[in-house]
Order: sequence, then structure tokens, then C-alpha cells
Amino acid sequence: MPSWFKRCETGSKDSVTLTPSDYMARALFHAARGRGRTSPNPLVGAVVVSADGVVVGQGFHERAGDPHAEVRALDAAGTRARGGTLYCTLEPCAHIGRTGPCVVRIVDAGISRVVAAVEDPNPIVRGQGFSFLRQRGVRVEVGLGETTATTLNQPFFTLIRERRPFVVLKAATSRDGCIAEAPGRRTRLTSDAADRHAQRVRAEVDAIGVGVGTVLADDPLLTARGAYRARPLTRVVFDRSLRTPPDARLLSTHDAGPVIIVTTAGGASHADVRSRLEARGATIVVAPDATLRAALGCLGERTICSLLLEGGAAIHLAAWDEGVADFVRLYVTPHTLGPAGLRFLSGRPFSSAGLFEARVEPLGPDVLIEGYVHGPR
Ligand SMILES: NC(=O)c1ccc[n+]([C@@H]2O[C@H](COP(=O)([O-])OP(=O)(O)OC[C@H]3O[C@@H](n4cnc5c(N)ncnc54)[C@H](OP(=O)(O)O)[C@@H]3O)[C@@H](O)[C@H]2O)c1
Repeated sequence: MPSWFKRCETGSKDSVTLTPSDYMARALFHAARGRGRTSPNPLVGAVVVSADGVVVGQGFHERAGDPHAEVRALDAAGTRARGGTLYCTLEPCAHIGRTGPCVVRIVDAGISRVVAAVEDPNPIVRGQGFSFLRQRGVRVEVGLGETTATTLNQPFFTLIRERRPFVVLKAATSRDGCIAEAPGRRTRLTSDAADRHAQRVRAEVDAIGVGVGTVLADDPLLTARGAYRARPLTRVVFDRSLRTPPDARLLSTHDAGPVIIVTTAGGASHADVRSRLEARGATIVVAPDATLRAALGCLGERTICSLLLEGGAAIHLAAWDEGVADFVRLYVTPHTLGPAGLRFLSGRPFSSAGLFEARVEPLGPDVLIEGYVHGPR
């Protein structure tokens, strides 16, 4: 447990002097507690420190529609917030959404200083929260903990800035870099330990996506099994020619969440197939062109912030070549599939050493390797 953790407990004031970094670390810790539940809203944490240096309130945003982190922390602090400092991981909002503007609550509570990690890039906030506070005499400092706060909210930032979901490219590979024995061949590679991990991460994202080739080869369910999930999970098939079979198993799992098939105008023109898929509950979305970026834009319009792109080879390659792969998660197994194997990224030069904030974790006989494709942005 980090040293600041205990010392930042509400109401504790010990002889060790805490620094602003300690308070921001605490706010970031709280923000992360909303992981997997706040979408399409960001993860946000807040800590209120009284004028005499006591933590008097803390909170985080738990789910969309619930009170914001700042409001929770101020509610907990009550009148002890007067003259104090609010640490928050994102710029406080200045607009009326499903909840009232946080900046009004901050001013009304008598907060004299706000320390925020990062500006909110959402055009309805972007700097306006800070301006509102400054105009009312609140001191505002921005940038403490910026890198961690930016990393934490990559899905939200990607949706706002690029109008598409944050894409996690996920694959199980043999140790010689193949994802299947041969093209179109269903190949089980991972151990139970890796499968459990993969199910857990499915529970955190907004959507899982596959290319139609994987539906035809593997007929996957794409549900989050054995892991608690607080909200429906959207499943997406990238299928420009509408080749998804209407009897695909995926179309019998609507209790897990909606199924979206992203196609093109050409695919949608197959009226008979389209109506059979719609009769099985699929939502057919027509992308403006055949690129994966355009298909992702359609998901962005539906406020899907994060997409776990599970394969197969062609759709991974499209994500990589179009520059829309944001994070790579590989389960590397001890198998060797040889020269006939279907290679990850069609053998494009790829090294996990090029990933940012890369981490490695043993999972039974397999090894998880994951990291960001770009630095925080
Ligand atoms: N080991 C693993 O982690 C893993 C995971 C999943 C799958 N797999 C394996 O991978 C194999 C399937 O791979 P695959 O390459 O055949 O299929 P895929 O990548 O699942 O799907 C490819 C199809 O997606 C469609 N697509 C839609 N939008 C696209 C775009 N922007 N760019 C490219 N394609 C797009 C294309 O069909 P249209 O042109 O008709 O749209 C394309 O033929 C199977 O053997 C499966 O078992 C392995």
C-alpha cells in the first residue's frame, strides 16, 4: 500500500506533511475505481483538503448519470470545504448535463483553490470550467498528475478528439507469432488462466469487435463469461459484404447486449440477408466508406468509447495499417504453429519493445504482453 494512502484517509492529520502530489495520487486512485462503469463519461476522482490540511472529502464518478466526483467529495466535506483545496483528476464541468455544473458547487462550497490534472477536451467544457472558477476568485492550477490522468482516460479522450473508440487490439499467438494453424482454421491456443483474464477484460470495455472472417471460422459467442459486468456489452461484426450467417451463435446472445453489424452501402443492398439478420435482432449500420476508420466512426457516433478488437488477421491488419490501433494485448502461448500458420499482423514488423508502458504478466503457461501503441495524448 503506498505511504500516502493511509495518511490521506478522511479526517487524518498526522505529523508527516503531505504534498499536493499525495492528494492528487489519492484522487487518481479514486478515479480508477469507476473503471468499466462510467462510459461514455470519463473516470474522475476528487479529494477536498481543508484549509488546515485535513482530507475532509473524497469521491469518484461511479456511473453515467450519477453525481460527479467533485460533488461527491464536496458533499462529504460539507462546511469543512470552506477555504480549502479541491484536487480533481479532470477539469470540473461548467455545463448542465444529467447533473448540475460542478463549478457552481465548488464556488458555493467556498473552495479557494482547485488543482486539476488535465483540461477536459470535451468542447462543451474545454477550459470553460477553469475560466468560470478564476472569474470568481478561485485559484486554479493545472497539470499535476497530467500523464497518469491522461492515460487513465484514453478511451474518453479518443472518442472526443477522434470521434471513434479507443481500440485495443487483442490476440492469442503461438510463440512463433501465429494466431491460427492456417487461414480460416479455428485454433485453440490459450490456457484456462489466460482465458479467465480475457473474460475479465471483456467486462471492462464498451464493445468487442471481430471481422466477419472470424464469425465464419469460429462462430464465437463474444460474451463476458465468468466476470461481473455492470452494463450490456455491445458486440460488433465488421462485415462490408454482409456475409454474417443469420444462424450465427452471436445472434442468440442479445441478453448480453446489442449486436451491431457494420457494413457498406453495397453490403446493405442485399435486402434479403439484411432483413434476415435484422429479424435475428442485429442492428445493421452502414459506414460511409470501406475503411475501418469509417466503421469506427459509426461506433463513435453511438458513444462507444472503447473497443476490444479480437481479430482475426485481416481486421487486425486494417487497424494497424490505418493507425487506429491504440493498445496491444497479446497472450503468447508455448505452441509452435510453423510456416503454414496465420501470422499476427500478416508478419508486419512488430515488437512489444516498441509499446509504451508495456507490462508482462505470466498467466499459467502463457504470457500476457500489453502496452500502448502511442504515448499518452
Ligand atoms: N488467435 C486469435 O486471437 C484469433 C482471434 C480471432 C480470429 N482468429 C483466427 O483468425 C482467422 C480469421 O481471420 P481472417 O483474417 O480470415 O478474418 P477477420 O479478420 O476476422 O475478418 C476479415 C474480414 O473482415 C471484413 N472486413 C470488414 N471491414 C474490413 C476492413 N476495414 N479491412 C479488412 N477487412 C474488413 C472483410 O470481409 P469483407 O471484405 O467481406 O467485409 C474481411 O475478409 C480464423 O482462423 C480465426 O480462427 C484468431
